[in-house]
Amino acid sequence: MSHITVAIDGPSGAGKSTAARAAAARLGMIYADTGAIYRSIAYKALSEGVDISDERAVGEFLPSVRPELRFVDGEQRVLVNGEDVSDKIRTPEISMATSKISAYPAVREFLLGLQRELAAKNDVIMDGRDIGTVVLPDATLKIFLTASAEKRADRRCKELAEKGTPQAYDDVLKDIIKRDYDDSHRQTAPLRQAPDAVLLDTGDMSLEESVDAVCALIKTKS
Ligand code: DC
Repeated sequence: MSHITVAIDGPSGAGKSTAARAAAARLGMIYADTGAIYRSIAYKALSEGVDISDERAVGEFLPSVRPELRFVDGEQRVLVNGEDVSDKIRTPEISMATSKISAYPAVREFLLGLQRELAAKNDVIMDGRDIGTVVLPDATLKIFLTASAEKRADRRCKELAEKGTPQAYDDVLKDIIKRDYDDSHRQTAPLRQAPDAVLLDTGDMSLEESVDAVCALIKTKS
């Protein structure tokens, strides 16, 4: 029996991972955060002292890296060479490094098999940038989840303020616009909506509403 595979792509800060994680929990599916896998590679490269601006050096380092997603009580953990790095990969330094290495074709090629294997073995909701366009072109359902840059900046500012690390709205918005541009203009697997993806604009939705919308779309396919 083939598995249900749901590809959720979209720009940074649109709420993909939060909606995907909650929808997967509700529907008894596995949530695969591909950004976390890219982040684990960047983490390992930095900790091994690899020059991440040197594309060739990163390519030569890849065969020694063993990234892995594990699911413990429905919760996803990211391991690299056996080390659980789930709690170490969300720093600004790792975000910057990940953005850099994820543009290298060798890195994307390296992770293709791992991502496809996850989808072959599980009912999965997988989120990223190129899941519907490259990784799972035959996904049961493709969703392009987005919101305007202004709405995303607004949400991000609220999150930062709640964490006690407030930032000026204009700076946050500028950052988001730059990341959107970089993600959608890179040569390999740029961020774009697959022609057969359903567009879901969460700009005016609460988290609960966006989870409901994702679940309703999945139910039409299962
Ligand atoms: O979703 P995230 O913020 O954890 O992603 C981290 C970085 O990895 C981001 O710069 C985009 C990149 N990425 C990618 O290129 N392809 C994916 N499928 C997932 C993430």
